[in-house]
Amino acid sequence: MERLTIRRPDDWHLHLRDGEMLRLVAPESRDFGRAVIMPNLVPPVVTGDDAGAYRDRVIAAGFARPLMTLYLTEGTDPTDVVRAHAGGVIHAVKLYPAGATTNSASGVRDIETVRPVLAAMEEAGVPLCLHGEVTEPEVDIFDREAAFLDRVLTPLRDAHPELKLTLEHVTTKDAVDWVREHPGVGATITAQHLTSNRNDMLAGGMRPHFYCLPILKRRAHQEALRQAATSGPGPFFLGTDSAPHPLQAKEATCCAAGCFTAPHALPLYAQVFEEEGALDRLEAFAALNGPAHYGLAPNEDTVTLVKGDAGARPESIEGHGQRVTLFDPGQPLHWRVEPREG
Ligand code: NCD
Ligand code: ZN
Repeated sequence: MERLTIRRPDDWHLHLRDGEMLRLVAPESRDFGRAVIMPNLVPPVVTGDDAGAYRDRVIAAGFARPLMTLYLTEGTDPTDVVRAHAGGVIHAVKLYPAGATTNSASGVRDIETVRPVLAAMEEAGVPLCLHGEVTEPEVDIFDREAAFLDRVLTPLRDAHPELKLTLEHVTTKDAVDWVREHPGVGATITAQHLTSNRNDMLAGGMRPHFYCLPILKRRAHQEALRQAATSGPGPFFLGTDSAPHPLQAKEATCCAAGCFTAPHALPLYAQVFEEEGALDRLEAFAALNGPAHYGLAPNEDTVTLVKGDAGARPESIEGHGQRVTLFDPGQPLHWRVEPREG
């Protein structure tokens, strides 16, 4: 197949940052219709008013259809969450265990403290998106997602069976199996966790642009993710977790977590689906399963992917005083997206 036209995909997990970085990266998600915008700014997006103001900055920076989220803290007011959701200001609430990842210091330490918020969300139908890793220092970094399933997610699901849950950026076979066993729970999968495993990051030299959280796992997990993503209609859908950091923060003694994939995310996913002989299931993963999970209509317009010489991709993008390196899977990409008309 040389051309593939599918409904326009959405990105169900995207970091756009703020200020100059926002202005640099917002236009780079042009292939996507809607995107769920993560709230882990400094300081985080914690109230409905914060989310409304951030939405305006996102649109002004060049991304037209953001779906906003609130950052759940131990001080979050349930009334504000329900009001912001009912008013169409926010799409979901994001739970970061405190200390789990970039800018998560204001996250949740003790889930009991946010019980009233979760109960109000369950009642009002506000989705909860989860960064699924425990943070106990004694838990090995490669085991933190699996430990989260047993210690946090299963009890949470049992306590709030009607709460709409999305397990973000799943990285293990354990998480894939857990999601399959819990109908109604959705899960996003990034491009880098499909193209790559921890050998790509660590064997023959340490490559900081492969470093993100949850960290890349061993090959068997990558294979389980590839199988889940290409399985057609169901709970798995596209969320790039594109997470830009300035070049100097990535290529540093202590490298920041996050892979910047927004500009070429669709070609990355398409290549994986092609390798798996599943291009006919790319539309379900990229454009249908996400809206179905959230009870939204899929996009009406389409994108066309073209196979062939994709031309040279820049190593980094630069502007507004910022420079960000694109995630490079270490192999040439041979898909490109036809530019939008008009
Ligand atoms: C994200 C970021 O940089 O904000 N980093 C990452 O490695 N994925 C945070 C996150 O989603 O964990
Ligand atoms: Zn993220």
